[in-house]
Amino acid sequence: MSAAHPVRIAPSLLACDFARLADEIRSVEAAGADWLHLDVMDGHFVPNLTFGPPVVAAIDKVATLPLDVHLMITDPWQYAPAFLDAGADLLTFHVEVADRGDARALIDTIRARGAKVGMSLQPDTPAERLAPFLPHLDLVLVMSVFAGFGGQSFMPGVLPKVQQLRELGFRGEVSMDGGIGTGTIATAAAAGTNVFVAGTAVFGADDRRSRIAALRTAAMAARAR
Ligand code: DX5
Ligand code: ZN
Repeated sequence: MSAAHPVRIAPSLLACDFARLADEIRSVEAAGADWLHLDVMDGHFVPNLTFGPPVVAAIDKVATLPLDVHLMITDPWQYAPAFLDAGADLLTFHVEVADRGDARALIDTIRARGAKVGMSLQPDTPAERLAPFLPHLDLVLVMSVFAGFGGQSFMPGVLPKVQQLRELGFRGEVSMDGGIGTGTIATAAAAGTNVFVAGTAVFGADDRRSRIAALRTAAMAARAR
């Protein structure tokens, strides 16, 4: 495990009680989270709708941790500036929409605004699809479920992609998203992942501090082997 890629636990707010959003944010920050994962869905790229820049701006007012904004949207070119204005510290868009515009220009736009940039790939998208962009990314988000909903089962078939990304020369951080919990985080970590998005596993826990500690311990143990 390298210092450049520490284990990070990023609770996904999609699983929180939105009626108590500020309390939920403070709760996972106090429980030891490293980043806050915000799932933005446009009802087009995925069959679900969540929230946009105004809600991210509201979250940014309360949060002290970095905002890891996951754009599951068809047109990140149009909306990226508004999410950056709203306080996104890391902005990730999907490679499946990359041919709808100039993805390199979008990467440069996000970077020029001082934010980190990531790209994500669905379970049925091969790692090679990211090859042209890898030298310009801070992070790759490997989906371990098909994007669109929380509470789905982890798909171990995506694990080899982490090594494939390294073989393609990627040196940035690797995040895994979907079905991450105490029963699956070790396999994700052993594959080389360092950022772990967890919605149900964190917000569904009675004791969030113990849960985050257990996730971190399992990931660090698996990476130390
Ligand atoms: C799904 C989202 C995930 C999801 C994770 O499209 O990108 O971040 O909220 O939720 P769990 O951890 O419950 O699978
Ligand atoms: Zn996500």
